[in-house]
Amino acid sequence: MKMKVFAPFMAAALCGLLATACAPPKPEQVKGFQIPDGTIDPAVWGKAYPEEYESWKKTAEATPAGKSKYKKGNDNGQTFDKLSEYPFNALLFNGWGFGVEYNEPRGHFYMLTDQLEVDPSRIKSGGACLTCKTPYASQLAEKYGTDYFSKPYNDVLNLIPKEHQKLGVACIDCHDNKDMTLKLSRGFTLGKGLAKLGVDETKLTNQDKRTLVCAQCHVSYMVQKTPEMKSQDVIFPWEGSKWGNIAIENVIKKLRSDQSYGEWTQSVTGFKMAFIRHPEFEMFSNNSVHWMAGVACADCHMPYTKVGSKKISDHRIMSPMKNGFKACQQCHSETPEWLREQVIAIQDRAASQFIRSGYALATVAKLFELTHKEQAAGKQIDKKLYDLAKDHYEEGFYRNLFFGAENSVGFHNPTEAMRMLGDATMHAGKAEGFLRQALTKAGVDVPVKVDLELAKYTNNRGAKKLMFRPEQELKDPFGPQS
Ligand code: HEC
Ligand code: HEC
Ligand code: HEC
Ligand code: HEC
Repeated sequence: MKMKVFAPFMAAALCGLLATACAPPKPEQVKGFQIPDGTIDPAVWGKAYPEEYESWKKTAEATPAGKSKYKKGNDNGQTFDKLSEYPFNALLFNGWGFGVEYNEPRGHFYMLTDQLEVDPSRIKSGGACLTCKTPYASQLAEKYGTDYFSKPYNDVLNLIPKEHQKLGVACIDCHDNKDMTLKLSRGFTLGKGLAKLGVDETKLTNQDKRTLVCAQCHVSYMVQKTPEMKSQDVIFPWEGSKWGNIAIENVIKKLRSDQSYGEWTQSVTGFKMAFIRHPEFEMFSNNSVHWMAGVACADCHMPYTKVGSKKISDHRIMSPMKNGFKACQQCHSETPEWLREQVIAIQDRAASQFIRSGYALATVAKLFELTHKEQAAGKQIDKKLYDLAKDHYEEGFYRNLFFGAENSVGFHNPTEAMRMLGDATMHAGKAEGFLRQALTKAGVDVPVKVDLELAKYTNNRGAKKLMFRPEQELKDPFGPQS
């Protein structure tokens, strides 16, 4: 049998022979150029480090279509809409902004622009939304304390200098201006989160920081609300978790522990719910094969690359599939075709479980709708069965939400993704069973196939959105066609 050469070892051996080939690039500053403290404008940093600056600017370019199966790329001018890809989510998220517009991510350049362009219902949380969307966030937090969380979005936006109101991820988000070492600039959020994990920030290695600079934003947070639904804080639900094991069970426990974490009302069920956003760090760092092997986000998303005679870390951060798997080949000796097949096989399996649990949950949501209608018409619903169903529904919903909000379609942690989706489907099945039992007991004749009315939720969301296509429903393993 052919041995697979896995290779930090091999790389290490090569590095021993060719020290310069594998050594990470050193910051080579244009001579005599100092970046003044507090400089946010990347163009100024760019005078000192033109190669990194140029590659950073490329995050404004569209990414190539056709290279990645799930992250389709947008050089054909199309922005992918997660609700058209997964219509069950249009049903589940109906009731607030995410049910109107929920797009696949674009490059870092667009971080703030996309927020300005998104449907206005998405930024109702106010200034809190800007926390990970502007490099001015730390300065805002310093000046205004957490007060700025509750201010209307546009008021906070206007605290940012005009010329930078559209500035995306900037050098200062990740670097110290003096020596370009990596620096966490969001102590007021990530810092508090790390403390909950028992991490001593002064002991972090450079490799840790090659992940944590990304974790400043690629993590899930909750916007805690006052009873009047004003945002009062941004918090990480990491109670009870450890470095290397932020367990979804703990996250859900925290989300469900207090009404003030409810940010929206799911219209189909009427339930007040919390929300989960882009948990890349949590998913990846939870005991994944690559995390355990010491691999960092930057290893896969910022490969070393040559620019003229210089070697730099590629600051055009994007899907490694769109970059010819260059990053992977630093460690894997296999061909790009082999790597592509591996990634897609992992993603296909995860996506099919995601779709399965998503439709199962959507079915339960519609059964709750029916239950509430029957209750309003005077039917007595067994409270114990109802509560059990609700409990299982929420447990399942948050697991499905977590996977869907994580942007790698399972790749960052294939086994954990399958575990959480399997549990999501299990919870949805139990919820459906208890609800059907409650309804039957109340004398309601429940249809075998529940009509999800998907067109009602996916259509009429504005001219830019894809409309519901009936063939999409064929993806539903339990759908009306079966
Ligand atoms: C200051 C916040 C912030 C930091 C720090 C940050 N990101 Fe992002 N990242 C975002 C946001 C927001 C988006 C989505 C932008 C959009 O859609 O407009 C994004 C998008 C991405 C994308 C998708 C790009 C595409 O072409 O679709 C990748 C990949 C990514 N980030 C990886 C990383 C990695 C790796 C790091 C660390 C080296 C990192 N990010 C650091 C906020 C951040
Ligand atoms: C072992 C390599 C590897 C590591 C480590 C890694 N990623 Fe990824 N990441 C990938 C692959 C592969 C994809 C899927 C890309 C695709 O489907 O096109 C991906 C997808 C993404 C996406 C979505 C990209 C898009 O185009 O929409 C984001 C955002 C992202 N990763 C951020 C991170 C962050 C943050 C970390 C660290 C917490 C991280 N990744 C660690 C390989 C990696
Ligand atoms: C999302 C985080 C992030 C942003 C934003 C960012 N960098 Fe970096 N940068 C990194 C990481 C990670 C490395 C690798 C550092 C290491 O391994 O020690 C790096 C390395 C560097 C280096 C060292 C040489 C090299 O290429 O590896 C320079 C210089 C640099 N960046 C300049 C910049 C400039 C200029 C900007 C703004 C235009 C910028 N960076 C924006 C994350 C970032
Ligand atoms: C810094 C080194 C490094 C980088 C970069 C890296 N890998 Fe890996 N990868 C490893 C190691 C180490 C293992 C574990 C090998 C083992 O124990 O058998 C691994 C395992 C894997 C596996 C099998 C385990 C699983 O999770 O299913 C796949 C598939 C894989 N890598 C794909 C990729 C792809 C695709 C990329 C680029 C997006 C990539 N790797 C980038 C080091 C790396």
